[in-house]
This record gives sequence, structure tokens and C-alpha cells, in this order.
Amino acid sequence: MNEIEKLFERAELFLDNQQRDILQNRMIITIFFENSTRTRSSFEIAAKRLGASVVSLDVSHSSSSKGETLLDTAANLDAMGPDAIVVRHKRAGVPHILSKHVKCPLINGGDGSHAHPTQALLDLFTIKQHFKGDIKGKKIAIIGDIKNSRVANSNIELLSRTGLEVILVAPPHFLPKTHLRTSHDVKEIIDSVDIIMSLRTQTERHANQIYASLKDYAEDFCITKELFGERDILLLHPGPVHRNVDIDDIMMDDSRCKVLEQVKNGVAVRMAVLEKLIKGEEQC
Ligand code: NCD
Repeated sequence: MNEIEKLFERAELFLDNQQRDILQNRMIITIFFENSTRTRSSFEIAAKRLGASVVSLDVSHSSSSKGETLLDTAANLDAMGPDAIVVRHKRAGVPHILSKHVKCPLINGGDGSHAHPTQALLDLFTIKQHFKGDIKGKKIAIIGDIKNSRVANSNIELLSRTGLEVILVAPPHFLPKTHLRTSHDVKEIIDSVDIIMSLRTQTERHANQIYASLKDYAEDFCITKELFGERDILLLHPGPVHRNVDIDDIMMDDSRCKVLEQVKNGVAVRMAVLEKLIKGEEQC
């Protein structure tokens, strides 16, 4: 946790959105084999704010679509001498495998339903920021398609280590096997939580349609004004938000909803991650 605290101290400084030259003359490659708007642009903005140059590989035009193996792609990227590579892939474990075949740091920008480490970091940063560091004993409900969500996986791992109590709330088929407290009913837990993290239903990862319709799902799990009432709860979502399925229009505009703060914090946290991974060893 000490390492994360130090990372957050740097991220705090980077919230001023100032242009810096910490990574001047450095080059970062982003390669996203799976769609992304937020995470990729967040990494790219983070790199550029630190003065690095960014080469963003368009996978649809890259050699992998011509049959090149992943490891050959990695070896070729590595030969160009980047200072870091950010990878997203629809298969769990790909960034881990690739990291063994490149010389520079390789950052997981999300792999399958397995992990999304920088998202969990920025979520924890946002939670700490909101509670001014005092998060011990606070309760967070993660609500939605937890089983298929890499964001949930990384958050469960990270937040459980911070003294937060994590409660998983979902219909049975969206719940993973877990030792954590679970519930199928948002109303059952809403009076006891300090934070709600809503998640998108990962329809692209469902082999067959599980709910009759998203409308049926929304009736039980959408975060609405009616459900929230005046409770003092911090509302988070990693995006992209399915409006009126995950969170309704009114709550999206509510001051307790910090979705855009998460996006802002994401750039600062990723700046701190890039700085640490690229310059960390030089600083020690
Ligand atoms: C998530 C992702 O792609 O894993 N979004 C993000 O990175 N901010 C969540 C999602 O796709 O639902």
C-alpha cells in the first residue's frame, strides 16, 4: 500500500493539468486490440502531459489482422525501442504473456474479464479523495455484471486490501464465486453503504442473452433517484454508462455522482503510473 500511497501523492500533483517535461524524449506505444475510448485516450493524454510522444497502433490496420502472431507483434514493437507499451486485449492474460517478451514496462489496459489495474487505482484514488483519506471501515457495494467485469475483479482485489468492506450486488448469474458478502437486492444494502459502484452489463461477453431485456435488468438494478433518495452515498461508474440501465439520467446529473471526476483522476493516476514505471528506477 505504501507504493500506492506514493503513486497517489504524485497523481495529486498532476491534477493541475499542467504540461510537464518529465517524460521528454520518451516514446509510448498504445495498442488496443479491443475497443476503448476512455482508457486509451486517458493513457495518451497522460503520456503527452508528461512530454512523451505517443504512437497509437491501429490494430485493424496492423499486421495481427494479417496473421502475425501476438508474440511477433510484441517483438517487433519492442525492436522500435519504446519506453512503455499499453495493451488492451479481449483475452485474459495476454498483457502478462507479452510483458515477458518486451524489454520495456508493459501496462495492462484491460484484459478480457480478468483485470483492469489502472481503473481500480483511479477508483481508489477517487474514493480517498472524496473521504479525505479516511476510508477504513467504509462499505462499498459493487452492483451489476460483476462476473464478467475486469473492473470489478481489479477493484475487489485492491479495495479489499484498504480496509473497505466490499459487498457484491447482482442477479445470481452475474455473481462470481466469492467469500465476500453478496446480495441480489439493492434495497437490502442501500442503507448500509457509503459508496456504490455501478457497472455496465457486459453484453459482449455473454454467450447468450441472460435477462429477457435490459429493461427487466434495469428495473432491479438501475441506480435511480427514487432508490437513492437523499442518502449520502458516493456514486461511481467506470464508464461507458448505459444510461437508464446502470444509472438513470437524474442521478447522472446529481452531485453525488462522480463519474467525470473518475475520468479526470484517471489521467492524473495514469501520469503517475507512467512516471513510476519509466522513471522509477532512475529516481531511486
Ligand atoms: C471498462 C472497460 O473497458 O473495462 N471501461 C473502462 O475502461 N473505463 C468497463 C466497461 O467496458 O464496461
